[in-house]
Amino acid sequence: MNRSLLTIRHLDADTIHEMIDLAASFRTAIMRGETLRPKDPKVIGLLFFESSTRTRVSFEQATSYLGYRFTNFSSSGSSMSKGETLKDTILTLRSERLDGVVMRHRASGAPFLAHQLFDGHVVNAGDGEHEHPTQALGDALTVLSHLKSIQGLNVAIVGDVLHSRVARSNAWLFHKLGADVRLIGPRTLMPTHGGLLPGRIFHDLEPGIEDADVVMCLRLQKERMQDGLMTSTKEYRKMYQVNQETLRWARPGALVMHPGPLNRGVELDDFAADGPQSMILQQVENGIYVRMAALHWIFAQPQAKKAAKATEPPAEKTSKKKSSAGAKA
Ligand code: NCD
Repeated sequence: MNRSLLTIRHLDADTIHEMIDLAASFRTAIMRGETLRPKDPKVIGLLFFESSTRTRVSFEQATSYLGYRFTNFSSSGSSMSKGETLKDTILTLRSERLDGVVMRHRASGAPFLAHQLFDGHVVNAGDGEHEHPTQALGDALTVLSHLKSIQGLNVAIVGDVLHSRVARSNAWLFHKLGADVRLIGPRTLMPTHGGLLPGRIFHDLEPGIEDADVVMCLRLQKERMQDGLMTSTKEYRKMYQVNQETLRWARPGALVMHPGPLNRGVELDDFAADGPQSMILQQVENGIYVRMAALHWIFAQPQAKKAAKATEPPAEKTSKKKSSAGAKA
């Protein structure tokens, strides 16, 4: 079976470092204005069954920078609006001779189905309340652009953990790379089996973000909430908002992150969103480079080795460990 990127949970720390290193190398290459010319350019289907701005555009950018082509697909305007099943849609796209698919879907696990039917070469761009692996890789690249290592960091993830695939992928990634992960939020917005996530749970903001090196805010995902999960936005803001005052509990200069889109003034104030500690726009840009790395990585298999070599960027390391990213590509 060909390689896919479906979760962070199933990756080991070396592979995560390999992808971050590869992304950093692509960033250097793009900054230098280098043009990547693959000998065997791929055609990627971007299948977004849920709305997206950052993730979709950065996959489009990533595909173009790699010298690949993409075709956009959404359920409206396709045969899915005539009742075609997801299975038949994927089989159809496979026969359209796409080399790989990037998929966002409201059902947790949908990209696994695509992986089976498509024989691999699938990148999960966010599935339901499950995972969003490229978001976590981009967040890690952002942190590593400012702090030497993830090992030993205190990473506080604040907000609607229950509905957040970003929280899950980030909790796994930062835990696997040796950070102390804290998950902070009201009881109603925390998974019932919180113990299955690799992080300590806090229901109060102050002890949760105390000494945090990284404070990651999550959007309140009202579209996924059943009525009554939150007393009021006002109360949420009072108890959990990351702002100029509450940031004083974290380490001085702590990195403030948010995957976007923001509920500005709810999970964070303007200081947290736009101030000197904000990493939000860097997260967006780094999203391009990790998506280049993810696509390159899934095609960097033995049979694709020769073709992928043409896109190989100059080596750059974010991990102390010697990475095999360049050699493998
Ligand atoms: C997130 C998502 O879709 O999971 N956004 C993103 O991809 N940047 C988070 C969210 O919607 O709140």
